[in-house]
Amino acid sequence: MEITVTVNDEQYRRSVEPRLLLVHFLRDDLGLTGTHWGCDTSNCGACVVWLDDVPVKSCTVLAAMADGKRVRTVEDLAFGAALDPVQQGFVQCHGIQCGFCTPGLLMTARWLLDHDPDPGEGTIREAISGQLCRCTGYENIVRSIRWAAEHPDGAGS
Ligand code: FES
Ligand code: FES
Repeated sequence: MEITVTVNDEQYRRSVEPRLLLVHFLRDDLGLTGTHWGCDTSNCGACVVWLDDVPVKSCTVLAAMADGKRVRTVEDLAFGAALDPVQQGFVQCHGIQCGFCTPGLLMTARWLLDHDPDPGEGTIREAISGQLCRCTGYENIVRSIRWAAEHPDGAGS
């Protein structure tokens, strides 16, 4: 089937198998490998992207379901050389170790801060509760997101 999807403000028209998952469409058809594919069972959250401005686990969405919709991936977070404050926060507060969970966490964190610019620790923990990290113990991830909330314009703010 033919689908037309706008990904990071660029429109793509592709022929896909009806059963193709969005995560594979992004990674394999479009070469956007920033979105990670982990558990494939909707548990880990490494595959989170935005679909029409709502975070979704892209391993639970068919590419066909994105037909006519907008997708935003982690590749769209930075503005050229300028990292998004959530990316800066993960660097500043060591929210990254192996980095496998990071793309999904960044997309969830950006969405949270767009809707609640000053979330408390409990709100942050609830927002990331659908995402697994095998490395950090979450403390530094929560600190990273708080850092981004406190520096909405990035390191200079
Ligand atoms: S790969 Fe989608 S939730 Fe783990
Ligand atoms: S940093 Fe390794 S899984 Fe989160």
